Amino acid sequence: MKVQYVKLLLLVLLNKGASEKDPCSNHKLLPKAEYRGKQCLLYDVGSATCDRGLDSGWYAVKQNNKYVEMPTSCPPPFSCDTAAPIWLNGSNPNSTEGIVERQLCVRGIYDDECCKSTVSAKMKNCGAFYVYYLAYTDTCDYAYCFGNDKCPATAYTNYTMTPSTVLSPSDPCRSAVPLYKAGLRGTYCPVYDVGKPICDRLLSVGWYSVKVNGKNVDMPNACINAGTCGTSASIWLDGNEKCIFPKVEVSDNSSKMTGIYAGIGVVIFLLVLIILLLTIKFWNRCNGRGLKVENEKIGQRNFTASPPPPYKE
Ligand SMILES: *[C@@H]1O[C@H](CO)[C@@H](O)[C@H](O)[C@H]1NC(C)=O
Ligand SMILES: *[C@@H]1O[C@H](CO)[C@@H](O)[C@H](O)[C@H]1NC(C)=O
Ligand SMILES: *[C@@H]1O[C@H](CO)[C@@H](O)[C@H](O)[C@H]1NC(C)=O
Repeated sequence: MKVQYVKLLLLVLLNKGASEKDPCSNHKLLPKAEYRGKQCLLYDVGSATCDRGLDSGWYAVKQNNKYVEMPTSCPPPFSCDTAAPIWLNGSNPNSTEGIVERQLCVRGIYDDECCKSTVSAKMKNCGAFYVYYLAYTDTCDYAYCFGNDKCPATAYTNYTMTPSTVLSPSDPCRSAVPLYKAGLRGTYCPVYDVGKPICDRLLSVGWYSVKVNGKNVDMPNACINAGTCGTSASIWLDGNEKCIFPKVEVSDNSSKMTGIYAGIGVVIFLLVLIILLLTIKFWNRCNGRGLKVENEKIGQRNFTASPPPPYKE
């Protein structure tokens, strides 16, 4: 009981502290604002704006001495002087709403990539202007888009926000994007049922969350069977358990014995493979099979799985 009272008191005190720092009166002006307009194309500037080095905090944004707001419609590719403009997929808040949290979209370089990933940001309507809580971005060249201006005539030379590779991603819990083909990555999903094995060679480096049928799933932390997870070389999280296959010990003493062991290993492997194949032939356990597979744009385009041929008697 007492602990709860203390917690309550702390909460009240903290809230009081927070309300004293109204972002409408406690904010900075966003740097390089005049380059963030929807009509300022990266080609016109040459060097992209990147918010990787932005000091996270509350910002108001001014272009040509006028306050501007974050666009609420998809900006054109390479606008806002960046390769990945971030815009507000929603409406700016009204003056009675107070601080709200809204979804922001990261615009990709292709025409149809209006929302290649999402982040969220707090914002508030201060009457004459808006303030936004902007966190530094996970990567370059991501930059927040504001207003509708064209690029300024004079080139920007003294921009001091240097992107840092030391920074951690702003918050992977919020910035993670869904992993493609998640439904085919289960430990009970044999590679033979997938058709084309999953290959992550072209996966964009970044934070991913993995959902199958609406449920979050985690990476297995015990050795998995060969040829599962929809691929021929599945990667798992090495916990306490030791994986015997497919680790290959290379030793230079007694190469004859090693050869014999390798031979036995290969025979056992083939036997297991045949048994697995026979089992799997009559047992399709890939839950994503035949379903539409989304989020397949990974570093290259048109990666979508082709639909199965029409069924004929
Ligand atoms: C502000 O937005 C809220 C939530 O959408 C709405 O309930 C309210 O009526 C709006 N207030 C004004 C003054 O438009
Ligand atoms: C914006 O958000 C809505 C609701 O979350 C979503 O349905 C829509 O696809 C989003 N817009 C874009 C361009 O992704
Ligand atoms: C850039 O340099 C010019 C001229 O020295 C100065 O007026 C301006 O305030 C500087 N801008 C920033 C953001 O430092």
